[in-house]
Amino acid sequence: MSASADPSTPSRKRSKWAQDDEDDQEQPLSIHPQKRRVKARTEFPDSTSQQSTSTPAPFPPTRHSYSAYVPPRTRRPSILPSRSVYSYERLNQIEEGSYGVVFRARDKQTGDIVALKKLKLDEEKNGFPITALREINALMSCRHENVVGIREVVVGDTLTQVFIVMDFIEHDLKSLLTLMPSPFLQSEIKTLMLQLLSAVNHCHSNWILHRDLKTSNLLMNNRGMIKVADFGLARRYGDPVGVGGMTQLVVTLWYRAPEILLGAATYSTAVDMWSVGCIFAELLLKEPLFQAQGEMELLSMIFKLLGAPTNNSWPDYSSLPLAKTLSLPSPQPPQFRQKFQHLTTAGIDLMMSLLTYDPERRITAEEALQHPYFTESPLPKHPDLFGSFPSAAAGEKKRKVFSSPSAPARLVDYKLLTEFDDVS
Ligand SMILES: Nc1ncnc2c1ncn2[C@@H]1O[C@H](COP(=O)(O)OP(=O)(O)O)[C@@H](O)[C@H]1O
Ligand SMILES: [Mg+2]
Repeated sequence: MSASADPSTPSRKRSKWAQDDEDDQEQPLSIHPQKRRVKARTEFPDSTSQQSTSTPAPFPPTRHSYSAYVPPRTRRPSILPSRSVYSYERLNQIEEGSYGVVFRARDKQTGDIVALKKLKLDEEKNGFPITALREINALMSCRHENVVGIREVVVGDTLTQVFIVMDFIEHDLKSLLTLMPSPFLQSEIKTLMLQLLSAVNHCHSNWILHRDLKTSNLLMNNRGMIKVADFGLARRYGDPVGVGGMTQLVVTLWYRAPEILLGAATYSTAVDMWSVGCIFAELLLKEPLFQAQGEMELLSMIFKLLGAPTNNSWPDYSSLPLAKTLSLPSPQPPQFRQKFQHLTTAGIDLMMSLLTYDPERRITAEEALQHPYFTESPLPKHPDLFGSFPSAAAGEKKRKVFSSPSAPARLVDYKLLTEFDDVS
């Protein structure tokens, strides 16, 4: 069925704004955003304008355009319509990720350079997806200097063209680690880790789990600042969990915590802390720690590095759904020391606290921020002293194509159980 045959079917066409033809960008807006705002204000007066009248407004109001039974909006800001994507001039495409295309663009009014992430809504049959709402909501509720700043949400030509407008950040850590000739210094790694931990702590204190922390989702500007991005898999935690438990379709394989790999029905902030441990290792090694092809290989790599879990190290291990299907390797000493030869004892301790099997005992972001690793010599480097690099995202350097896995697809069948069933 063609998209045009049924007006209610979302169009699969790319937004004209997102197409390559530069001429299309200067499309005039059908309704100027400023005019729409004025209209919105007159239709929905707020309490401030009501208070300015000497006599209180009768309730229910009688001569207004809004319902007589809905009280007037009492809080600012009033709800404004989204601006159009044509308020921005497209500069270049940064990346086509798993869930959206990201562009670099210029705000026509202010001249600010921004990043626009086009949400993938083309396949949606059931309205605006909850995942997109979660992404926007999480970005808005986790505002922090180390979380990428969301500016607004703009719309394109059709209902399926929705863009998140963010501050533009020059690099992502994954591209940077690949392009850098030598690894970060210890003092730099400490600064980056402190920033990452402070962002994660902030998200967790605001009841948000990120669930896809990895180097390609960590942006870094040319002033040594990390910004956590891509809240596409984020969700609130702490609410009662439904009968089916929480989805195990989370976190890109290499950064996925063992409790998710073993089918835990519920999990919490500790899953993000495991990913932080993998990122810490990646910063030191300049390559991902666990580059496994599948869940089984990943588990065996984890067991090899940390030693297999025991009743002592992870009392709940045996009660996890998939634990019984696994035959654990014979006990062997962890290989941490060999792997991170230049790391101090405090550094090793922090790494082991992050990569702790038992999620109950895994270090929290708040605790990790106080870890002695950050106060021993060499001290964290001031962000201003970081070198700057040519930005691939701004077209200053050609981007490389990386062969790393992406975050789990949101709506496909999860194959983990089947794979474990194959293991006798
Ligand atoms: N605000 C931004 N500034 C610059 N580049 C960005 C920005 N947001 C995302 N990117 C780039 O786009 C890539 C994909 O964005 P992301 O939000 O991670 O989408 P996906 O959900 O597709 O992974 C990132 O890895 C990064 O390289
Ligand atoms: Mg991403």
